[in-house]
Amino acid sequence: MSQAKPIITFENVTKRFGKLAAVDDVSLTVNEGEFFALLGPSGCGKTTLLRMLAGFEVPTEGRILIDGQDVSNTPPNKRPINMVFQSYAVFPHMTVADNVAYGLVVDKVAKAERDRRVEEALSLVQLDGLGGRKPDQLSGGQRQRVALARALVKRPRVLLLDEPLSALDAKLRAQMRTELCTLQEKVGITFIMVTHDQDEALALASRCAVMNKGVLQQVASPNDLYEFPSSRFVADFIGQVNLFEGVLAVDEQDHAVIRAPDLPVDLFLDHGVTGARGATLWAAIRPEKIELHKKTGETPPNLGDAPAGTNAVAGVIRHEAYLGGSSTYEVEIAGGRRIKVQRSNLTRWDQEDFALGETVWLCWHACSPAVLLS
Ligand SMILES: Nc1ncnc2c1ncn2[C@@H]1O[C@H](COP(=O)(O)OP(=O)(O)OP(=O)(O)O)[C@@H](O)[C@H]1O
Ligand SMILES: [Mg+2]
Repeated sequence: MSQAKPIITFENVTKRFGKLAAVDDVSLTVNEGEFFALLGPSGCGKTTLLRMLAGFEVPTEGRILIDGQDVSNTPPNKRPINMVFQSYAVFPHMTVADNVAYGLVVDKVAKAERDRRVEEALSLVQLDGLGGRKPDQLSGGQRQRVALARALVKRPRVLLLDEPLSALDAKLRAQMRTELCTLQEKVGITFIMVTHDQDEALALASRCAVMNKGVLQQVASPNDLYEFPSSRFVADFIGQVNLFEGVLAVDEQDHAVIRAPDLPVDLFLDHGVTGARGATLWAAIRPEKIELHKKTGETPPNLGDAPAGTNAVAGVIRHEAYLGGSSTYEVEIAGGRRIKVQRSNLTRWDQEDFALGETVWLCWHACSPAVLLS
């Protein structure tokens, strides 16, 4: 991407509904051309944040800037922004073409120009030739694309998408994901998308923001969010994770040791930790970063980067779920803690190797745990 140029800036934005701070002191910058995803549990303030940006709600405190200009006094229809709503209401009594043209009619765009732009927008979302149909003559995915075309036809600089794919089945969702991505690259419009589907956010976005209870928790690239979460909340919200509470027992420049009551062995890390010795912290290990080995003897598999007696533990498989490409397991270790493990099904016979009740070794690399201080 070329040099990042801010297009949207939230400056200490708060929105209160009565006593509730639906959005709480959010500061955030989105750059031109970005595909930005906003993630968080239901009710955390995502829609409210977008509605303020679009101009449908007024911040209680703080400012929103577009291209460096405070838009407090700019009405929604004068902002270079269009929103595809959470319930992507298309007008059922109008044809597809009329639905798409609606905003242009409101703006009094001349008919010839309008027709040309509607055709162009329908083509962008691959609905060529379907302009004469009514929404109820379309599939769910096609209706979704009508809503998109209706927003795109206005040529906004920023497109806000609130759960744009939530009404679709898994297969169509995946297909629309790819289409959204291609579309965004093609039109070069800045996309801000709200989703509570983390896979969707990771797959599509150049950067993601995670919110909780109105507060921005972390803003990062999908990769950083997943591999370097800043808190237990983010680690747990994005993907699956095993969290071990413990204390910092050793902290050197090139390694550290965490002692966790749930684990019969120490957690060895191949890097130092910025925390006080004896301080409580959490080690977060993703299920796919834990190796599963058949337990044929008393010596755990040696991953070569941790001293003996660390980062490997025996357990019994108590639960398994076959997902096709991979399987997930819950392995109970001494003391009763269950650890989630995910494993690719590398051969067609993998299932036979790791069955319910099987005793196994679990082990992980010294670089695998993320250390969290909050
Ligand atoms: N107009 C309103 N009046 C009062 N409270 C509101 C209003 N709009 C939203 N809220 C409250 O503000 C909080 C944030 O709502 P918001 O719609 O932004 O959540 P969300 O993150 O979009 O959730 P979801 O994922 O369920 O769509 C919720 O507690 C909601 O009940
Ligand atoms: Mg919402």
